[in-house]
Amino acid sequence: MKILATIAEMKAAVRAARSQGQTVGFVPTMGFLHEGHLSLVRASKSTFGLTVVSVFVNPTQFGPQEDFKTYPRDLARDAAMLEKEGVDILFNPEAGAMYPPGYGTYVEVQGLQDRLCGASRPGHFRGVCTVVLKLFEIIRPDVAYFGRKDAHQAIVLTRMVRDLNLDVRIDVRPIVREADGLAMSSRNTYLNPAERQAALVLIRSLRAAGTWIAAGERRAAAVVAGIREMIGREPLARIDYVEAVGAADLGPVETIEDGTLIALAVFIGKTRLIDNAVVGPEGKIW
Ligand code: PAF
Repeated sequence: MKILATIAEMKAAVRAARSQGQTVGFVPTMGFLHEGHLSLVRASKSTFGLTVVSVFVNPTQFGPQEDFKTYPRDLARDAAMLEKEGVDILFNPEAGAMYPPGYGTYVEVQGLQDRLCGASRPGHFRGVCTVVLKLFEIIRPDVAYFGRKDAHQAIVLTRMVRDLNLDVRIDVRPIVREADGLAMSSRNTYLNPAERQAALVLIRSLRAAGTWIAAGERRAAAVVAGIREMIGREPLARIDYVEAVGAADLGPVETIEDGTLIALAVFIGKTRLIDNAVVGPEGKIW
């Protein structure tokens, strides 16, 4: 596996691979990898000749009071994991190269960027879209892989690709969970043992919502209230939001239907975790 740090090297490597007829799969990450990331890597490896993974903790998607400085970083560990998966290129640019002095160009997906996580993290999706567009431009992948744990992010990026006519397809893959149901996240590492246990309230409440919906409950307000009540009973949890929204526009829905996204963000202690479920046929959630 090559580890490339400069944009020029990265562009040249993709150009060389393309000149030999290779197709390119891309997995953008902020590192501190887990099985969720590796599931995206495996999807790319099974389809594309060249798999590129970026590890870049993107400063522009963190708010001033957020965890940019403390976000877990371990490039040696990430590189070892990616090497084992047979990744071709690990791209690890410097922040100063991605955002040189005087940098002033940002991408906004109006309408979608301020909903759900965007409401409590102003500017977050502007930072995500900007860095992802820059990475797409540098790597020019055929397909880019994202996890559905960040469902809102995937919806915003899919809209960006459509709106800007980008030649890349966004492939959104299922949430990968720990054995006890907690959605994998690099931020789980912040949780102490009591918080780790308390964090299970996210999946417990989503699964409970699934049983209410499967039993015929279709009133979004009732489902949201039920989830809020369950989470409210967990002393270490503080709700940021619980919403049932349409997956196309992220607007709140009154009636739960196939495709409704039930999304949560909950602070467990100081750690903000997100999780979600999509309502499928017969009210099953996945
Ligand atoms: O999902 C993430 O890890 C980040 O938001 C992404 C897509 C790598 C952009 O920094």
